[in-house]
Amino acid sequence: MNVIDEFSRFAKQYNSYNIIQDRVAKKLVSQIEKSHYKAIIDIGCGSGAIYQNLVNEEIEFSKFMALDFSTEMLKLHPSSQNIIKKSFDFNSIEDFKKLKKQDKQLIISSSALQWSEDITCSLKEISQYGDEFHFSLFTSNTFATIHKIGNIHSPIYSKEELLEAFTQYYNFSYEIKNYQLEFEDTPSMFKYIKQSGVNGRGNKLTYKEIKRIIDIYPYNYLEFEVLFVNGSVKTDP
Ligand SMILES: C[S@@+](CC[C@H](N)C(=O)[O-])C[C@H]1O[C@@H](n2cnc3c(N)ncnc32)[C@H](O)[C@@H]1O
Repeated sequence: MNVIDEFSRFAKQYNSYNIIQDRVAKKLVSQIEKSHYKAIIDIGCGSGAIYQNLVNEEIEFSKFMALDFSTEMLKLHPSSQNIIKKSFDFNSIEDFKKLKKQDKQLIISSSALQWSEDITCSLKEISQYGDEFHFSLFTSNTFATIHKIGNIHSPIYSKEELLEAFTQYYNFSYEIKNYQLEFEDTPSMFKYIKQSGVNGRGNKLTYKEIKRIIDIYPYNYLEFEVLFVNGSVKTDP
């Protein structure tokens, strides 16, 4: 199953499984200066956590572009006169060509770009369309202990790989934040991993392997690591 299927399948029940993503979206928006923005683009907008937090924080904008490659997610995103929803794949150069550069354009992407097939390429494309950028991405230290026990190479980028990619196109400050999410028992943890979409396309474990990991997993919580980046475009990359 690839990532788009996974997100579409769980789109409706997704809201109850996105506790960490919600906290991440809230923190990311809290770092944005309260001002009026001409246009805000949200890449991998999901069901609208960024939009909701912007409204809650009273950050104003004339136009909001909600971009996601899952039409099911776009359906769940709030609608209004100043929201434009578009199906968009951040792995597609063709899709980037359809975007327009405007003055005072803010770009946000929360908990989505860890699935870029080529993060350097996605970040390069994104850098051409905004003046100010706010990103959050899960790093390979998410589910670190599970990966260690299962001898699994994380399907997502390490913080070093991400920082290296950002350095090429952005002037930025960053923060690494670790989260723990507690569960009553280990099977519900694994259910969460499957249904949260956080695991992306890498979940190739057999039932037997999962069973072995469940039996020896030492914690009652799951580990997440998130990289927050606030930046502007490097003028001389
Ligand atoms: C974990 S959710 C985060 C959603 C939202 N930004 C939030 O903070 O709650 C990741 C989103 O990225 C979208 N996504 C994953 N790969 C994508 C791609 N290649 N192009 C566009 N969107 C993508 C998924 O459909 C999903 O809505």
